[in-house]
Amino acid sequence: MIKKYLKATLLFLFSGLLIITYSTPKASEHKDFFRQILEQKKLFLHAPDSLPLEFRSTHDRHILGNMRVMILEGRETFRFDTFGNELFWGKTLRLHEAIKGASLGGEGPGLTPSQALALGLKVDVKALPFSFQRDLRRGRVDLEDPVNTVELLRLNAVVGLTGFFDSQENLTAVGVQCALCHSLVDDSLAPGIGHRLDGWANRDLNIGQIIALAPNLQPFVDLLQIVDSSIDADTVRAVLNSWGAGKFDAQLFLDGKAFNPERTDPKTGEPASAATMLPSVFGLAGVNLHTWTGWGSVPHWNAFVATLEMQGKGRFFDPRLNNPEQFPIAAAMGFGNLNEHIDPEEDRITSKLPALHFYQLSLPAPKPNQGDFNSAAAERGHALFKVNCNRCHTEPLFTEPGWNMHPPQEIGIDAFQANRSPDKAYRTPPLSGIFVREKGLFIKDENKGQFFHDGRFSTLLEVINHYDNFLSLGLNENEKEDLVEYLKSL
Ligand code: HEC
Ligand code: HEC
Repeated sequence: MIKKYLKATLLFLFSGLLIITYSTPKASEHKDFFRQILEQKKLFLHAPDSLPLEFRSTHDRHILGNMRVMILEGRETFRFDTFGNELFWGKTLRLHEAIKGASLGGEGPGLTPSQALALGLKVDVKALPFSFQRDLRRGRVDLEDPVNTVELLRLNAVVGLTGFFDSQENLTAVGVQCALCHSLVDDSLAPGIGHRLDGWANRDLNIGQIIALAPNLQPFVDLLQIVDSSIDADTVRAVLNSWGAGKFDAQLFLDGKAFNPERTDPKTGEPASAATMLPSVFGLAGVNLHTWTGWGSVPHWNAFVATLEMQGKGRFFDPRLNNPEQFPIAAAMGFGNLNEHIDPEEDRITSKLPALHFYQLSLPAPKPNQGDFNSAAAERGHALFKVNCNRCHTEPLFTEPGWNMHPPQEIGIDAFQANRSPDKAYRTPPLSGIFVREKGLFIKDENKGQFFHDGRFSTLLEVINHYDNFLSLGLNENEKEDLVEYLKSL
């Protein structure tokens, strides 16, 4: 009896907590989210007999319950939380005005759904009412009218981009989420429209061109003028447009470097863009340092991105950014000690870091099907991998257990991007699920491949040719093919 009472109290207390945490009305929150979490919690408190034997003690059940709740909360944050950044993308940059266009009270021609899809924005089919899906299938939704882009935002169907509406249903701001850059869809309804694939890098996304649509780029001009007073909005727009699909420059507003003087872009003959490839964020559990240049742990980087890149409201501390030689903009702006005196009630990020971390580590790397690679060749390639690659890409993490960093001269590439990070080195990236990029699954053909931090190698074979030359491995053509097949099997 007492036990039952205790359980009811716990459940009551827990729902109270949830209501406190989630009661601030935000466009980003889904109505059924509460219900889902409460049901999960109930499941573990009231149906212990359905659990495997090892989870039947109260303590073990609480651990399991915690896991489920953390994953659901983290998923909600990853997919829908703007951390208040609509103030920046909406009120300041006025990106929503470029999206709706002059005919809906915004600016310019507006962004049509086909243009949005061409820029790599993805649509979550599960957010679309059945009738809308049917109309889409039958070609009855006008994809050339910005009204329908606004409608997709109203349905909360644009992956990683949330619209905010006033009481008259006018679009008044947009905010961005993690899913914008780190989720794809499975194209189940049409290219760019399908079920979410959280963690898969959106290599179709031309985020530079999307930001360049914003009527007001002055905040970026102000930052870049710290290093070069001649910079104006046109220069900023040109830089944003130079990134291309699948790339973003997370260091631009720390150091003001837009191009890599050590490399030429093979397409333009000009210095290559300093932007880096959007990485997949699956298969990261057990990996020590993250990002191409090993800035820190997952929660370090999440706090960094949510504040400094996405412009949400929260605290961030990293005194390495106070170095004026390496990070002139960040040092001048105090980015290394952001919102030192923030009221915790106003901090929209810090409380979400634990569950976000949990969710990210729960994202599994996709596994290839048998037909995706040649298994006999992969087996031969495995033997070559053990000899030549495993010391850095250590199985089954495919990165070093421990300090997974290398100075540029150890992998034979230029130091430009490494020098833009505190450790001045490159991080050994984990390789599980890399077949996705070699095949270009759920992305446009022209955006597939692109390996290393700046996409300098188009295919896995090019990567292996690089290592073969640089490390003098003496691989013959068959052995190279075998190694490729092995990489495709991970
Ligand atoms: C505008 C696009 C964009 C958005 C939005 C974004 N990221 Fe990223 N993310 C990147 C890029 C680019 C990198 C690589 C940066 C680098 O290496 O310098 C990255 C790197 C990462 C990594 C490191 C992965 C690894 O191990 O290499 C994680 C984890 C990550 N992001 C999580 C998040 C989370 C969580 C959010 C939301 C809070 C988020 N990102 C929002 C573009 C984005
Ligand atoms: C000295 C350590 C080291 C060795 C040895 C090494 N790698 Fe790497 N590998 C790295 C680092 C560091 C990077 C990241 C390069 C960058 O960010 O531009 C990398 C990148 C890669 C990538 C690109 C990953 C991506 O996400 O784009 C592939 C594929 C790869 N290595 C495969 C191999 C293979 C195959 C071998 C053996 C022939 C090998 N590596 C040997 C350290 C190493």
